[in-house]
Amino acid sequence: MIRILGGRRLDGEVRISGAKNAALPAIFASLLTPEPLVLHNVPKLLDVETAVELVQALGKEVHWSNGTLRITGGEELRPEAPAELVQRMRASFLVLGPLVARIGQAKVALPGGCALGPRPVDFHLQGLARLGAQVEVGNGAVQAKATRLRGARVYLDFPSVGATEQLLLAGALAPGETVIVNPAREPEVVELAVLLQKMGAEVRWDLDRVTIRGTPRLSGAEHTIIPDRIEAGTYLLAGAITGGRVRALSVCPEHLRAFLDRLELAGAAIEVGPDWVEVQGPPRPKAVDFRTWPYPGFPTDLQPPMVALLARAEGRSTVTETVYAARFGHVEPLLQMGARIQVMGNVLVVEGVERLRGAQVEATDIRAGAALVLAALAAEGVSFVRGEHHLARGYENLGEKLCGLGAQVWEEQG
Ligand code: EPZ
Repeated sequence: MIRILGGRRLDGEVRISGAKNAALPAIFASLLTPEPLVLHNVPKLLDVETAVELVQALGKEVHWSNGTLRITGGEELRPEAPAELVQRMRASFLVLGPLVARIGQAKVALPGGCALGPRPVDFHLQGLARLGAQVEVGNGAVQAKATRLRGARVYLDFPSVGATEQLLLAGALAPGETVIVNPAREPEVVELAVLLQKMGAEVRWDLDRVTIRGTPRLSGAEHTIIPDRIEAGTYLLAGAITGGRVRALSVCPEHLRAFLDRLELAGAAIEVGPDWVEVQGPPRPKAVDFRTWPYPGFPTDLQPPMVALLARAEGRSTVTETVYAARFGHVEPLLQMGARIQVMGNVLVVEGVERLRGAQVEATDIRAGAALVLAALAAEGVSFVRGEHHLARGYENLGEKLCGLGAQVWEEQG
């Protein structure tokens, strides 16, 4: 449980870690080759530990020393991903494509539904079938077989991050060209393509598609994980919501454009450097309307933290969540803190209040947890945030980084 004494302006600098959502697919790319893969700037997070455990279970050796992962071995890979690991983290499902491409077979549990509503993997399975895999779904798992995957054209109904990554990973080892029409273009997806190119695949991005030309054998590579734009946005919001001043270091401002645009409309003063962004929060935020959208739109992962800011804004904000069917796990706990929010379909209507009040609340997923921490930092009195393991999945050294900004935060047992 995390105890937070609210009402203090945050002030200072915070160094942003490597991106969780870039590190995870990069770790799974190690399954595509027996040669060493070296990844720098890897964040120490529960989800990264799960991904490491998973590739070890499949046959890789992993050495981790201060931020650098060295993944070797795996001449022979096991075809079955332990269900417990896949159930723990949805992104584990990304081992399916690499295993089928590398050893012609795979058995991977279907990822558990999670607090963001149903999260099917139909685009993943349809795409792998297009590449020539025989895919069967039965008693909670997917079995896939292929004598040889072949490049093919796949059209995605929605620019799914995971499905795009799944098909880039499989296509990298499939002879011929795999064309993904309507792909995701999140920085983490683009970075995976850069890594696969370093390993020997050829990738080309066009207006409405990405093409990857596979090769029979991929080599190892060395790669540095890009900064975590969602972590950066979260800390900038911590400065904004407390009326303080926070500078996030080691960021790519380019990856935060849509978010920074809305933060400015909310009354924050924003200064942008080559690899840093500084926010001076307003005494009280202004109401802002926005909708989440695939990149380069407003990132869905910053919707819950942004709603925390708008909960104490002057006026009414309308927030539309277009990526997930139900990403509202933060609403109920925010109501307990005195927020006034109505959910109508996939629209949140937020009537800002002057002050939030400290309460005992429960995080149900990583970003809902972030929203509750932000609200607690601005609330009057003490808050207790349970479910901190969700936060540990996505935020490296959260307590330390917040205390470094002057927050009064204690991580407690119980
Ligand atoms: C990735 O999840 C991220 N996770 C999520 O971040 C992020 O919210 C999401 O992309 C959107 O940006 C990782 O990268 C590990 P999607 P992913 O496939 O790949 C539907 C965090 O907090 N869909 O783009 O699962 C799906 O139900 C996490 O760091 C299908 O219908 O996202 C959802 O409504 C949370 N069929 C929408 O697409 C499919 O086959 C977006 O999903 C696949 C997805």
